[in-house]
Amino acid sequence: MGVSGKKILIAVSGGIAAYKIHFLIRGFVKKGAEVQVIMTPDAEHFVTKLSLSTLSKKPVYTDFYSDNGTWNSHVEMALWADVMIVAPCTANTLAKMVHGMCDNLVIATYMSAKCPVFIAPAMDLDMYQHPSTKQNLKLAEDYGHFIIPAESGELASGLIGQGRMAEPETIAKAVEDFFNSGHTNKSLEGKTVLITAGPTYEAIDPVRFIGNHSSGKMGFSLAEEASGRGAKVILISGPSSQVINDKNVELHRVTSAKEMLAKVFEFYENADIAIASAAVADYAPKEVAKEKIKKNDDSLTIELIKNPDILKTMGEKKSHQFLVGFALETQNEEENAKGKLEKKNLDMIVLNSLRDEGAGFKNDTNKIKIFTRTEKKEFALKSKDDVAKDILNFVENQLLK
Ligand code: CTP
Repeated sequence: MGVSGKKILIAVSGGIAAYKIHFLIRGFVKKGAEVQVIMTPDAEHFVTKLSLSTLSKKPVYTDFYSDNGTWNSHVEMALWADVMIVAPCTANTLAKMVHGMCDNLVIATYMSAKCPVFIAPAMDLDMYQHPSTKQNLKLAEDYGHFIIPAESGELASGLIGQGRMAEPETIAKAVEDFFNSGHTNKSLEGKTVLITAGPTYEAIDPVRFIGNHSSGKMGFSLAEEASGRGAKVILISGPSSQVINDKNVELHRVTSAKEMLAKVFEFYENADIAIASAAVADYAPKEVAKEKIKKNDDSLTIELIKNPDILKTMGEKKSHQFLVGFALETQNEEENAKGKLEKKNLDMIVLNSLRDEGAGFKNDTNKIKIFTRTEKKEFALKSKDDVAKDILNFVENQLLK
């Protein structure tokens, strides 16, 4: 898989990071991709058509017309591409893209493209932090584009901060992951997948809460993977800094377990597969203080009461859904996981043991075992994106039985 045989359209705009594009092009061509480069007129101040066309093995276009009077069809290039990458994407090009200011070949091609679009912004740190850039990146995300965030470090201006274009390897990886993640394999087409993710926060007073260290990463990886396989995904997440660049994922952000429960049951009936990866707080303060609690006494007692068990409730109301739970255990792992499978009326449970290094909440990796009533499968330590693939492969195999 990967990028071999893929048609990749790279649009370069006028920033110093343009020099890195040579490495990106060379990497793609080496891996067997076809690369077409286009540039904004300003990009020519930073890199030459000659160097880019030598590496891409195709003419590079900056204008609607070539010197010999031929027409460089933006529509043809846009429809030819399997993916379009705008890198570096300056603040100006980003703004033009999201607002449809079509005054050069790059923007006209972008606006004609039907393929997925990757954007690697690059600009000075204050420009990157400016509300207009933030708003424009958000708009680009809302249009379903993939943003490859700028990295932090020393910038061409000499300032230090976020704004440096992601390294060519990072951009290449994002594109390769896209092709590898089954985005062309629509095995879950027509299915609705409901996923809970992240922690829940249970308020103590207006400024404090009980929470946990769940990052939400596992649930977001599952959502992205399920959507890549053609599913409609409803992702219900507690507070998490994770973002998702996928228009087939409907993200609902909630705070407490009670809110998560209510949101889940808005969608549960129509779900074909439900996966509970959220780390729901088991208990919540009985009363939420209306005012901030003052530190008057030497000790403070907060009475906690049990939260609703969202997954158990899903198990009780299960009709046609394939129901998947998670178990995070520190001892008697397998026994406890199998117990939860029964108790919560699940079809499958994914076990993480905190005794395994690299598994669990905070890491970008996970090590899992999967149990059904009759099967057990153990997996190696992998990135959460790869774990999401293993989980969904397992679910799909079960559905075929
Ligand atoms: N879960 C849930 N609602 C809760 C608690 C847990 O939906 N109030 C779900 C989690 O999303 C996970 C599974 O239940 O899929 C297991 O959660 P875990 O906390 O490990 O199990 P508990 O049943 O809470 O048992 P314990 O904390 O005693 O281990």
